[in-house]
Amino acid sequence: MNYQNDFPLIKNRGITYFDSGATTLKPQSVIDAVVNFYTHHTANIHRGIHILSEEATELYEESKEKVANFLNTKPENVIYVKNATEGLNFASAMIDFSKGDKVLTSVTEHHSNLLPWLLLKKQGVIVDFVDIDENGKLNMDELVEKAKGAKVMAFSHASNVIGTINPVSEISKIAREVGAISVIDAAQSVPHLPVNFSKLDVDFLAFSGHKMLAPSGTGGLLVKEGFTKTCTPPIAGGGTIEDVTLTDIKWASGAEKFEGGTPNIEGAIGLGAAVDYLQKIGMKNVRRHELELLNRFYSNIQDLPLTTYGPKPNERTGLVTFTLKSRLDGKMDIHAHDIADFLNARKIAVRSGKHCAHPLHYRLNIPASTRASFHVYNTTDEVDALFLALKEVVEAFS
Ligand SMILES: Cc1ncc(COP(=O)(O)O)c(C=O)c1O
Repeated sequence: MNYQNDFPLIKNRGITYFDSGATTLKPQSVIDAVVNFYTHHTANIHRGIHILSEEATELYEESKEKVANFLNTKPENVIYVKNATEGLNFASAMIDFSKGDKVLTSVTEHHSNLLPWLLLKKQGVIVDFVDIDENGKLNMDELVEKAKGAKVMAFSHASNVIGTINPVSEISKIAREVGAISVIDAAQSVPHLPVNFSKLDVDFLAFSGHKMLAPSGTGGLLVKEGFTKTCTPPIAGGGTIEDVTLTDIKWASGAEKFEGGTPNIEGAIGLGAAVDYLQKIGMKNVRRHELELLNRFYSNIQDLPLTTYGPKPNERTGLVTFTLKSRLDGKMDIHAHDIADFLNARKIAVRSGKHCAHPLHYRLNIPASTRASFHVYNTTDEVDALFLALKEVVEAFS
């Protein structure tokens, strides 16, 4: 599979883009969908009677239907948010907490699935953590033990650093058994794997559009049937009510209750186009392609003084995070920013630092790491080029 021609930036800039974990490139069809909205349909939604408003509303609703169908839920259970971070903050604000309630999460989480829970400590909420084993997989015995008495179990579907794909169905089953609400950060799974919200049987699931070929400022919080009725919206305003008097509120039904103010209409339409693009390829094929790239990376690096973190390729998503030593003494680590800088000079874009997962870096006892993350537009030739450039890095620093 070679999809590079669908992504104009690749031709225009000639950059090998291995930073899809941060955000993805956009295919021409997504760019066209946004431009088409601006050029032919610009209007606000859900308010006007005029034709442009009707068209904009239709396009926005159509996007939700596509997303709902893509992740196997109903459109009324899809709350559009600006990114996974907002989705996870919404989830924490939609749940009623009391002093002494416990949130169980893990040491691997991105800050977006950590800080919303740590903030609750001000209310007397206890936050506890599950550790990982030497392969970067969640310690499930510890998880089962600590789940007892939890009000919320908040875990990522896939780690943005070590790539580990967590057993979400198992986690949601454990959560049901102990009466906990399950919240899943799917920012790194929805763009890379088939995800079936109904089958996973979780209560909340958040994802970002911009990491799945869609425009920035898009994302979704999927909620289990019934939650839109019982939860109070974290923000309220235009579009969230059916009626309001100076004393009473009758909330709108479904997701509208949670989408206060004018949403990112053009972004949503772009998100719908991104879903169309991914569905045409098929998420199983996206996964297969990324696995091929992962395997190529692992077979290449045998001779490099490189340490990767996380489980083996078939248990992780399409990203590799590593540290690299200079060959001279085999002891000195080359700093992640130096590696990224060196690669940048060779038109290869990777991410370096702690990737918004500081606690995980402290847990792994490394100051920083370098991450190469893949998507459909990457090729095995590019992975080979990365390997050759890393060899040069080692030589240059020896
Ligand atoms: C696992 C994970 N969760 C949450 C986020 C936050 O995503 P966003 O910045 O789109 O809100 C990221 C972003 O890198 C992520 O990798």
